[in-house]
Amino acid sequence: MATFQVVPDVHAVGVVDWDIRYFHGPTYSTHRGTSYNSYVIVDDKVAVVDTVYQPFTEEFVENLRQVTDPANIDYVVVNHIEPDHSGALPALMELCPQATVVCTDKARQGLLAYFNGQWDYQVVKTGDSLSLGKLTLQFIEAPMLHWPDSMFTYVPERKLLLPNDAFGQHYASSMPFDDQNDMEIVMAEAAKYYANILGPFSRLVTKKLEEITAMKLEIETIAPSHGVIWRNDPGKIIEAYARWAAGEARPRMVVVYDTMWGSTEKMARAVVAGAASRDVSARLFKASISDRNDIIAELLDARALVVGSSTINNDMLPVITPLLEELKGLKPVNKVGAVFGSHGWRGGAVEGVEKYLEQAGIELVKPAVKAQWAPGEDILEQCHQLGAEIADSIKDD
Ligand code: FEO
Repeated sequence: MATFQVVPDVHAVGVVDWDIRYFHGPTYSTHRGTSYNSYVIVDDKVAVVDTVYQPFTEEFVENLRQVTDPANIDYVVVNHIEPDHSGALPALMELCPQATVVCTDKARQGLLAYFNGQWDYQVVKTGDSLSLGKLTLQFIEAPMLHWPDSMFTYVPERKLLLPNDAFGQHYASSMPFDDQNDMEIVMAEAAKYYANILGPFSRLVTKKLEEITAMKLEIETIAPSHGVIWRNDPGKIIEAYARWAAGEARPRMVVVYDTMWGSTEKMARAVVAGAASRDVSARLFKASISDRNDIIAELLDARALVVGSSTINNDMLPVITPLLEELKGLKPVNKVGAVFGSHGWRGGAVEGVEKYLEQAGIELVKPAVKAQWAPGEDILEQCHQLGAEIADSIKDD
């Protein structure tokens, strides 16, 4: 990415990672790549806010040199220590050893542990600020959004919020601003990001949004550390976060299943048909051929999750387990659920899935439908009814 001005005196010097297909190790699919955004603020004093993932260090430093000689840097603000933002920090600090690292106390602890970063630190907390000359950096701690060390940096004179991961998207683009991109894609990636990264911290997201509102921060631009910069309509992503954090959902259903010999698949299709008979959209995912993170994103604003599995070894099919394990951690807000499944000699899948859904905080609103061997017309009718009744209940919400 070429460097560019975000607002006067604030320049983007980050990089685009077009090739990454999995983030956080293998845990998050990034079909559209990502970017590691870094910003440099040039005033009487010079401050860099966040760096980039280590493999992109050379490109990052080249970008930085287009704006300023790294030797001029006075402050390096570390909003978050995760390596996609701090990986290039040690190399940067070699170029500006006189610079002060500005971060939360937890971030300082993390940087010492990660890098043995024996640098000058200025530990900050909410309410602290730093004058660069005509511009000011104000700091807002944001613990668990999404790590304990996280914080936001705000530049009041430019009405600019630099919130690191918050409001970001794993989305690579040659065009850095919201108004230059297809907003349907950007919002879909922002939703996927929220569902997969910030979902478990929804209560804290709500509190943080309330705190920012109470601080009466004027925000004209939000420049996160992944994806596009919100300059045209920053309210759009703030409003979306408020909705997602509150668990606002549409009357939509997600049906996830897998099947050994087709019985559970027939049941899944009957559930979907039941929902459709009540004019409620249901998206069907076969777990073994579907992307787990995409399913989680689809569930973000769907009210109902219905899961089906054949039984093997008295339990669910192993391909179902990773999604349920993830949901147990993510604890999606405001969801109802139900389960169905088939078995041969002995069951077990349905009970196993129900246990997971309960652990994920998903309210089971209907008894499970079970089929032994192949589902007959009566069982398929029960599945149809299951889909229809859940559809009716979520339409009435
Ligand atoms: Fe983009 Fe939490 O790292």
